[in-house]
Amino acid sequence: MSARTIAVVGATGAVGEEIRSILLERQVEADHWVFLASARSAGRSIDHGEQTIEVRDLASPNAFDGVNIALFSAGGSRSLEYAPKAVEAGALVVDNSSAFRSDPDVPLVVAEVNADALDTRPVKGIVANPNCTTMAVMLPMKALHDAFGLTEMVCSTYQAAGGAGQSGIDELHAQVDVLIHHRDALRHDGVDAIGQVTPEVFMSPLAYNVVPMLGNMQDNGYTDEELKLLFESRKILGIPALKVAPTCVRVPVVSGHAISVRATFAAPVTREAALEAMSGFDGMVLDEFATPLAYAGGDPVAVGRVRQDLFDDHTLNLWVVGDNLRKGAALNAVQIAEALIERGHA
Ligand code: A2P
Repeated sequence: MSARTIAVVGATGAVGEEIRSILLERQVEADHWVFLASARSAGRSIDHGEQTIEVRDLASPNAFDGVNIALFSAGGSRSLEYAPKAVEAGALVVDNSSAFRSDPDVPLVVAEVNADALDTRPVKGIVANPNCTTMAVMLPMKALHDAFGLTEMVCSTYQAAGGAGQSGIDELHAQVDVLIHHRDALRHDGVDAIGQVTPEVFMSPLAYNVVPMLGNMQDNGYTDEELKLLFESRKILGIPALKVAPTCVRVPVVSGHAISVRATFAAPVTREAALEAMSGFDGMVLDEFATPLAYAGGDPVAVGRVRQDLFDDHTLNLWVVGDNLRKGAALNAVQIAEALIERGHA
């Protein structure tokens, strides 16, 4: 391979910023870096290791000239419009949006689970990075599926404000700043407390609350966010008949998603056998009382509270935690780029 150029699309956003820092941390080698964002950010300088890179407008002509790998994290509509242009210019795209995840010709990859999907060069030039919640669940489920044969999951999520980007984090902090002065209302008159703030990112006030509606409602009463847990899990694990009952809930946490999973298997399973199957799995740690805060800013997915079901010896209940911006988004995107480089595709 001659000189390698890596582009980050959405380089100024919450995930883009994390991608840039992980690229440096993991010493991913490139001769040239291209940082793309909206016209608003064009011209801004970003320090990257020893270099200073000027942000360019994604819409500028020839934005992808010479780019070998483009890591997209600027929202689904930008991916739909610009990923094909990047591919046309010769780049391989790692896309963090949901735009291409269901395309059968686009591999959907969790690095520790199904990187073998990248052994052959992606036919459309695009690899999709899974949804942040699904991502975390896939690590323990892959370890357990290989040992016991996964057939069903009930997933109840506790998703951080940061899953909605910087604006979600800002909204949570702003609501806390207001509501901390309304302690009586929080205790005795929730309707009054709700009236003190005007939610924009989330559909109800998130501070001192939980919001059981995340994503866009579909005709069947589930949200698109919930259905990702079904369709993406099936594709990543290669279990087309996997049954998933998902409920996605937003909680007032800044970073770090948690998921309570009830998983049912073809074979009987005990807590001890499950712990043995999961121990040493790449990218994952066992931590009985893992909290999102303890893993915010960290790489591993943590799994705890592993219990055999009280009534069904084919079923386990467990708790999964992962930083939504790192393993849930930026880290896995960088790992996909590394896998493409390792295989000589870029
Ligand atoms: P910008 O900072 O110039 O708006 P987040 O998810 O944190 O909101 O970040 C979204 C990322 O996507 C940012 O880098 C943002 O750039 C970029 N982005 C948003 N809209 C556009 C657009 N129309 N064209 C190019 N980049 C965009």
